[in-house]
Amino acid sequence: MDRKEFLTTIGVGAVAAFCSSCLAACKPLDPMVNSPTNVDLTLNLSDPAYSALNSNGGSIYVDNIIVARISDGSYVALSSICTHQGSTVSYNEKTNRFVCPTHGSIFATNGAVINGPASNPLLSYKTTINATSLRVYS
Ligand code: FES
Repeated sequence: MDRKEFLTTIGVGAVAAFCSSCLAACKPLDPMVNSPTNVDLTLNLSDPAYSALNSNGGSIYVDNIIVARISDGSYVALSSICTHQGSTVSYNEKTNRFVCPTHGSIFATNGAVINGPASNPLLSYKTTINATSLRVYS
């Protein structure tokens, strides 16, 4: 192997290795693997850690779940892990949507994708409120 052949071979190998790692990094996450399942949490809304949920538009994070109070007595709980590449989504009170800051995916309050690049919905969880106890469950 002469010098030119060697460099060509090394160059092709390096490009192949680089592209392989890029493709692996860009592979969409499987929301069933990465999002919380078998969820059953009870949040005490008297606890200062959850006080944001006492106001419309407030939201908190717990165990990779985002819980938002979207109106009086109405709560939504979704996986906070974006199904595109795993960034943490946030709740936008003004649009009543969940948004990912990394690439701009937008999700409805039921977790459905409104705008990509994410193509899979966020897992959603049921909520029930009883006085100051908010239950979030699968
Ligand atoms: S990580 Fe890419 S849109 Fe959320």
